Amino acid sequence: MKESHEELNRRRAEALKGGGEKRIEKQHEKKKLTARERIRYLLDAGSFEELGSLVTHRTTDFGMADQQYYGDGVVTGYGTINGRLAYVYAQDFTIFGGSLSETHAEKICKLMDLAVKAGAPVIGLNDSGGARIQEGVRSLAGYADIFYRNVQASGVVPQLSAIMGPCAGGAVYSPALTDFIVMVEQTSYMFVTGPNVVRTVTNEEVDSEELGGARTHASKSGVAHRTAPNDAACLQDLKKLLTYLPQNNRELPPSVPFELGSEWREDLGNLVPDNPNQPYDMRAVIEGIVDAESFYEIHAEYADNILTGFARLAGKTVGIVANQPLSLAGVLDRDSSRKAARFTRFCDCFNIPLLVLVDVPGFLPGTDQEWNGIIVHGAKLLYALSEATVPRITLITRKAYGGAYDVMNSKHIGADLNYAWPGAEIAVMGAKGASEIIFRKEIAKAEDPEKKLAEKEAEYAEKFANPYRAAGRGFIDEVILPGETRRKLIRGFASLENKQVDAPKRKHGNIPL
Ligand code: HXC
Repeated sequence: MKESHEELNRRRAEALKGGGEKRIEKQHEKKKLTARERIRYLLDAGSFEELGSLVTHRTTDFGMADQQYYGDGVVTGYGTINGRLAYVYAQDFTIFGGSLSETHAEKICKLMDLAVKAGAPVIGLNDSGGARIQEGVRSLAGYADIFYRNVQASGVVPQLSAIMGPCAGGAVYSPALTDFIVMVEQTSYMFVTGPNVVRTVTNEEVDSEELGGARTHASKSGVAHRTAPNDAACLQDLKKLLTYLPQNNRELPPSVPFELGSEWREDLGNLVPDNPNQPYDMRAVIEGIVDAESFYEIHAEYADNILTGFARLAGKTVGIVANQPLSLAGVLDRDSSRKAARFTRFCDCFNIPLLVLVDVPGFLPGTDQEWNGIIVHGAKLLYALSEATVPRITLITRKAYGGAYDVMNSKHIGADLNYAWPGAEIAVMGAKGASEIIFRKEIAKAEDPEKKLAEKEAEYAEKFANPYRAAGRGFIDEVILPGETRRKLIRGFASLENKQVDAPKRKHGNIPL
């Protein structure tokens, strides 16, 4: 072999060692895969093409000139996932704790620029001690260069983040700017300031896991969209997520061939209880409607009074937003409005049609909600749905009350097809509340006020607690039997496949943040 070729091979072999055997062992002891193992697991076998494997840092301060590792703490490149192109970077904790130097950042930026030009998703596998302390402001500049690119790429190519180790300080903001975050349980955390600073500033005693571990962010803050029990499961989850998404905003999501049969689903008729106050699981409705086992939930543990997620209907991706009567009767509140709005906007960016399932008693009352801005958060969902130009279909399964009727993809805010089941109640409020207000004097004067209230309630329900007034006005296109829902939705979305909307000319709208 030529000497020059040998030299390249020697350097390549050196690069593959990362921070060395000992540090790799340490990584494995923590039940974490190395950066290269993660990439190997994520991409199709043999498809990875590395870029920048011989990059080294430029720092000379603090004895750094003598400490050089090829790759500088991040492995970057492209490959395929289920045959589809993806750009990946994986921070290598075995090299300076995966900390971000100027050159480490340059590698990530180069990759993001390529991904946007090539129109393919960017996947970041984060495992880093944060800013490379020896580099000071150059490291901070590197972070900002990445943040800027996250924003430029937003809505152009899907950006996915896995948190597979530490992610602290300003470093959290790159994942936060991406579309989805999956965190590994027990071995990852995200926070702006760690437990020590928290103790000093607020006197709170909290450990890393409680402050910013996977469970915390999946259920309390909503920062994480999903969690996984270990690295392998996390990477598997990202692969699955990608199967629902297009490569970029100019393409449609991938679909699998499908032939329309009867699609009648008898069971859907038995899911909604006759008693309007009795809860039921909207997940069962979703599962009854979509292709078998295709529902992939986003934010399953956060704001669970609304469900969001992807599914397939006749082999094609749809985004689902659905009130969940099992939790708080499916009421809209701050967090559920925000959750649904963010999901809606993702779908709209990436040409994913929206199915909205409605069973909503209204907005949650109370000082907590009001003082913490339910008005502005509720407006987010109203805004997000109103501006969405993807095909949009609504199905009211039971209640659609008050302002929440308008917000939940009503005809009036641009939904294309609106269906309701025969038991739907579309009104300003429930029959009891309404009767107490409008018949108050009559009820007070009655010999038996309770009996009178019941009478008035029945009268009101008779008039308004059904879908026919709305259908009579055309606000509901068709009242349909639960059993025929799947067929109607498949045909509805097919009819809207070539939907085009010319948005008004403007720089961008001003969503209430
Ligand atoms: C340089 C770092 C580093 C860093 C870790 N290392 N973090 N080197 N800059 N930020 C090195 C360690 O010196 C060590 O080197 C190796 O990585 C592994 O670190 P350990 O401490 O041995 O690992 P562990 O015990 O698992 O602890 C991980 C850790 C801890 C909790 C992340 O390393 C840590 O607290 N690091 C500092 C975190 C931090 O304060 N970063 C700056 C935050 S501010 P050797 O040679 O021994 O293997 C920030 C601002 C971003 O990030 C702003 C963006 C706008």
